[in-house]
Amino acid sequence: MAVIGAAPGGASDPASAARAVREMFTSIAPRYDLLNHVLSFNVDRLWWRKTARSFASVLKRQDARVLDLCCGTGDMTFALRRQGGERVAKILGVDFSHAMLQRANAKSAGTSLCWIEADALCLPFPDGQFDLVTAAFGFRNLADYDAGLREIARLLRPGGECGILDFGEPRGLMGKLYRVYFKRVLPAIGTLLSGVRGPYAYLPASVERFPSPEEMLGRMRRAGFREASWTPYTFGIAGLYRGKR
Ligand SMILES: C[S@@+](CC[C@H](N)C(=O)[O-])C[C@H]1O[C@@H](n2cnc3c(N)ncnc32)[C@H](O)[C@@H]1O
Repeated sequence: MAVIGAAPGGASDPASAARAVREMFTSIAPRYDLLNHVLSFNVDRLWWRKTARSFASVLKRQDARVLDLCCGTGDMTFALRRQGGERVAKILGVDFSHAMLQRANAKSAGTSLCWIEADALCLPFPDGQFDLVTAAFGFRNLADYDAGLREIARLLRPGGECGILDFGEPRGLMGKLYRVYFKRVLPAIGTLLSGVRGPYAYLPASVERFPSPEEMLGRMRRAGFREASWTPYTFGIAGLYRGKR
């Protein structure tokens, strides 16, 4: 079966792609946060904050239910919680790497955040349960993008929203300079600091393979989103896909 999502190491079917992705994140979990901040020059914090701010009105509602998919060590989830302030919505983080969730859990002591180990393509929740579903830098790693979008749409109540934050490919001169960094410098530093060969070469390859914003928006509409838009962040190095059911 052709892979219509991530394919690390040339994985040939969705099950082997998902397994390879989970093993890869588990292998870098101990150094994930450090590498994220170093390799993005801390701009990652800005992107999480900006994404959370886009959903401020939902996050302020105490009765709102929010799901952060592919939450990893929880930084997007924490940004959502901070944005909610005192009267914060009920927020759940989901990831299929136990090692990543262990770190999220250790970082969230004393908060009401909950973590669930599950595959984003097959979530243990009934239909229409959530007001907001987010995914930061995780959606690109799903083994089947359309199935991922359908699963998000299934979980949202009518009028519910989703926010998918992920890398893009900036154009023009900025794009050229960035590609040198992203394809050459970043994999070298990532491999050195993580001590694991592979994941940081997979990162630029996965971004290259990811659908363009135009294509993603079409896929979102076909998956059942009434509204779909994309906002570039930092020259399009990253961007936020917003969808409304
Ligand atoms: C690049 S990390 C992003 C973590 C976090 N959201 C952040 O912004 O730092 C991607 C995460 O997605 C998770 N992931 C990838 N595919 C998944 C799937 N099918 N189901 C659940 N989690 C998945 C990985 O285990 C990993 O923790």
